[in-house]
Amino acid sequence: MTPSGGLKATCPPLSTFYFLFVIFVLSTIFYCHRRLALVPDPWASSALVVLAPRNLPPEGMFTINVKGRLGNQMGEYATLFALARMNGKPAFIPASMHSTLAPIFRISLPVLHSDTNRKIKWQNYRLNDWMEERYRHIPGRYVRLTGYPCSWTFYHHLRPEILQEFTLHDHVREEAQAFLRGLRVNGDKPSTFVGVHVRRGDYVHVMPNIWKGVVADRGYLEQALGRFRARYPSPVFVVTSDDMAWCRKSISVSRGDVSFAGNGLQGSPARDIALLTQCNHTVITVGTFGIWAAYLTGGDTVYLANFTQPNSPFHMVFKPQAAYLPNWVGIAADLT
Ligand SMILES: *[C@@H]1O[C@H](CO)[C@@H](O)[C@H](O)[C@H]1NC(C)=O
Ligand SMILES: *[C@@H]1O[C@H](CO)[C@@H](O)[C@H](O)[C@H]1NC(C)=O
Repeated sequence: MTPSGGLKATCPPLSTFYFLFVIFVLSTIFYCHRRLALVPDPWASSALVVLAPRNLPPEGMFTINVKGRLGNQMGEYATLFALARMNGKPAFIPASMHSTLAPIFRISLPVLHSDTNRKIKWQNYRLNDWMEERYRHIPGRYVRLTGYPCSWTFYHHLRPEILQEFTLHDHVREEAQAFLRGLRVNGDKPSTFVGVHVRRGDYVHVMPNIWKGVVADRGYLEQALGRFRARYPSPVFVVTSDDMAWCRKSISVSRGDVSFAGNGLQGSPARDIALLTQCNHTVITVGTFGIWAAYLTGGDTVYLANFTQPNSPFHMVFKPQAAYLPNWVGIAADLT
């Protein structure tokens, strides 16, 4: 190799640098654009309104406390939506509720900036977990609803609008659909998808210790799945849970029709609610998350009924007829 040849190889002409630089810039722009397209877009919703204290609606407004996780907050959102409408007041959600719900759903209620929220002299108004006549005339101008409302009796008359509020963002729905498209029952593509939600977690302790009750056991799940096997030709069951290890031990896969979401590893509440609501029917156990999954799915629903002792204090805060729609089918829990 001649010295000049060596020089040429290590020091290409300037135009080559420019060329490589342009390629680099273009590919970076292209890559960033692709990444941005994949980022969840809560801020793409027009919901986030920063309301200065001087711009508060003079007729007053309603908001609600933010308690619990996804299922509870969906109940709070829908109840606020319905009661504010009934009372002719604008509804605003706290910023933390927006952070929970907006990455998943196309919710539309405007958001109260936390500084503004703190400055308003709210009148708290406590709700039971079922609709009452007096909630049609809630006194006060700046009213903060409190409690853990999650009952169709507040908002079922607005069902189309509630379903609209809880419409999934496209990328969330598409991820769930891609999972369902990949499922096979003994080699065949299923036409009936049954979402199964098994709530355990803290309930495993809270139910027996505080509420004198039980969570779902194997017997319940076998019966619940059996109803769908009897009713539909080769349905597939998509199991989601906060305790996938228990599910894998307790739900038999011998028929080849049970699939555990996320390879049997625990997913996120967002992924699970998306999977469940993209199915056609629902099996639930206890808790508001399952109730919402079934409500949004709108198919056949089987739930765990009578899971607390008759003398349980749970009956003071929970009315089954206000929690489960009349056409849902209950299977009584084994309390022994
Ligand atoms: C059942 O769910 C699947 C997956 O979302 C969907 O493609 C199909 O149209 C649904 N079937 C019915 C009858 O709604
Ligand atoms: C639950 O208990 C109530 C009251 O005893 C009863 O009327 C109802 O039929 C029971 N539900 C189921 C599904 O067994």
